[in-house]
Amino acid sequence: MNKNKTILLVEDERIAFNTILETLEFFGYQCYGVETLKEALEIIKKVPFDLILADYMLPDGTCFELLNAVKKFRFNLPFVVITAAENQKIIHEAMQKGASDFLKKPFNLKNLPVIIERNFERLRIEQKRNSPQKATVLFKTIKALIAALEAKDPYTSGHSLRVARHARMMALALDLSEEEQFTLELAAILHDIGKIGMPDHILNKASHLHELEYRIAKEHPVVGSNIVGKIDELKEVAAIIRHHHERFDGRGYPDGLQGKVIPKLARILAIVDAYESIVSRRVYKDAKSPEEALNEIKKYAGSQFDPDLVQIFNSVMHSEMASQKMRLKIEDFTDMSDSSSI
Ligand SMILES: [Fe+2]
Repeated sequence: MNKNKTILLVEDERIAFNTILETLEFFGYQCYGVETLKEALEIIKKVPFDLILADYMLPDGTCFELLNAVKKFRFNLPFVVITAAENQKIIHEAMQKGASDFLKKPFNLKNLPVIIERNFERLRIEQKRNSPQKATVLFKTIKALIAALEAKDPYTSGHSLRVARHARMMALALDLSEEEQFTLELAAILHDIGKIGMPDHILNKASHLHELEYRIAKEHPVVGSNIVGKIDELKEVAAIIRHHHERFDGRGYPDGLQGKVIPKLARILAIVDAYESIVSRRVYKDAKSPEEALNEIKKYAGSQFDPDLVQIFNSVMHSEMASQKMRLKIEDFTDMSDSSSI
């Protein structure tokens, strides 16, 4: 069944080399075995492997050199590092360098195909997520969901897109990976989708909500997360949606997570969502200026919001405001020069 999968084993211990190779072949994989880094660096240029299984310590270097080399041209090739059980540092470093999995010695040979297959499965999910056609369908579905929510709640019209814009600015300032940026932006666009299940009289109520109404309103992160979580590719996005009303001091909802236990992207979303709500007019309140909104966010740094992220948001917004003023001045100047030429 695995005849079409080719695996490279890099292992210099003779007994381990033979038993692993025999096991892999027994389960039907096509295998190549080499004992040194040098041989491995050569063979990866020639054979299109589907997975590499490499011992950390090789006679002429470590497998990280092989990992670096292979990542340059096969960035998503599953790479499993074999290491001694107690070496957590190596495991951590392997993951940071882009290894997809690790195998602690000694291991049960029966588990080998399970580990191999879970790496292939991860890759399949990743490729599904990255398929451009699927991404287009996904975006269209998301737009339809947002349109449905905005039809129901005209006061939040455009809110999610403005939140997404600020989230993107934070992602850039924090130098988040592309994957994280994508997750954050989608979570920002979809964060209030759970309001779709809220009764209109609660959603559009001008006065303060009664206790029961407030309890219903507070269900929207869980409802939204359950809706979005139905799409396999959006499981991470669903987790961020679930936690966008958690508070840094642990007094938020739905789970009362505290501090850095709250996913980072959810901590970012909490800030940009609050800011956008403060500067927008709602049925129950007037809009405030950007400066007032920033002061309010700063006031709750450490209690409602992550203080480190608030600081970054503050500087991101100040430079945004400065560049906006600059743009206005340039526009004024352009207008003046236009009129003088008439
Ligand atoms: Fe919300």
